[in-house]
Amino acid sequence: MLLAMHALNFLLLTLFLCSVCCELCDRGTGECKELTASDCPVIFYIQHLIANEIKYCNEIDDIVCCPLPLNNQKQAPVEENRPYEKECNHFNDIRASCHQSPFIVGGTKAAGREFPFMALIGLKERDKSEINWDCGGTLVHPRFVITAAHCLETTETKEQRLDPNFNSPKFVVRLGELDYNSTTDDAQPQDFNVVNYVVHPAYDVDDDRKVENDIAVIELDRNATLTEYVAPACLPPSSGNDHLQLTAAGWGLTTDSGHKSSHLLKVSLERFGDDLCEERLEVEIETRTQFCAGSINGIGDTCNGDSGGPIFVQHPRYNCLKLLIGITSYGSICGTRGRPSVYTKVYLYTDWIESIVWGE
Ligand SMILES: *[C@@H]1O[C@H](CO)[C@@H](O)[C@H](O)[C@H]1NC(C)=O
Ligand SMILES: *[C@@H]1O[C@H](CO)[C@@H](O)[C@H](O)[C@H]1NC(C)=O
Repeated sequence: MLLAMHALNFLLLTLFLCSVCCELCDRGTGECKELTASDCPVIFYIQHLIANEIKYCNEIDDIVCCPLPLNNQKQAPVEENRPYEKECNHFNDIRASCHQSPFIVGGTKAAGREFPFMALIGLKERDKSEINWDCGGTLVHPRFVITAAHCLETTETKEQRLDPNFNSPKFVVRLGELDYNSTTDDAQPQDFNVVNYVVHPAYDVDDDRKVENDIAVIELDRNATLTEYVAPACLPPSSGNDHLQLTAAGWGLTTDSGHKSSHLLKVSLERFGDDLCEERLEVEIETRTQFCAGSINGIGDTCNGDSGGPIFVQHPRYNCLKLLIGITSYGSICGTRGRPSVYTKVYLYTDWIESIVWGE
């Protein structure tokens, strides 16, 4: 009886874990499953035929990389003309496995390896170990991070900020982090100095605090080592205007206003129509280059983003990759129900990003 209960508990626990997340393998075309008739019939029944072609997640425990149904594999080849599309293809090829979790409404803690493109951008004073993590960002290439232009505004000149001998706080970037106040979390942080950054030439904040072209590219002092914890997101091949549900992630998304979270959080957001957005925000937005997202019915007291951090969707063809649709620009007022945040539309800037990241 006791044994049966243990077995049942184990089963429930396994079911629970599987419904919470799954491990994808073989560039996101398969899922790690036990080699049984119920878990992976596709391989179970023909294993004697293909014994040496079976890909294992864990051979000792007989966990195989079970191919996803073809309609979930999203591997239809397309023309990749643009450098960033080729690079995205390459990111997928080098991505052995990934951690995926279902869409969750409301803000919640992210799991380790869930969003390996998340970057923390901070300021570090010389001779001090403490870093103020003020903004988020997105890794789009082993050496480049996209963020909001306003995250890089300083009183010193750019040259002074980049000069290691000039005594001003320096920008630093951390990748692969989950909880920056914990050393026992599921994370493998990599820290970088910033060797250059390019703020969009038409970035502007006008007298009404209206922000335009709030986007910047940061160059790290070396290539990041790509791992399960650190891996780029892809630039979008189209506007992304048709995505009505998006996910934002960051360390500044807490429910109680003013407090940051040291643990990476994620939240599902709805895209607002431009009229509704302006009505709720009581300011005009530049509808060509900006869009709004938040919680239309104001369910859940979440904030809507983390300055400079990404708002993204699942890549339509690669299960292990995300598409960067927007960058959190402003309006992330915590605890104001139904109030959206404003995002910079990344698609309109892909030429500009490409000229810096993949240019000469
Ligand atoms: C950095 O990564 C890029 C893109 O993968 C690659 O082309 C380049 O050779 C790498 N640079 C170094 C120094 O490894
Ligand atoms: C991180 O830890 C430091 C030192 O214990 C604390 O002062 C700070 O508030 C913590 N940060 C967050 C966001 O929890």
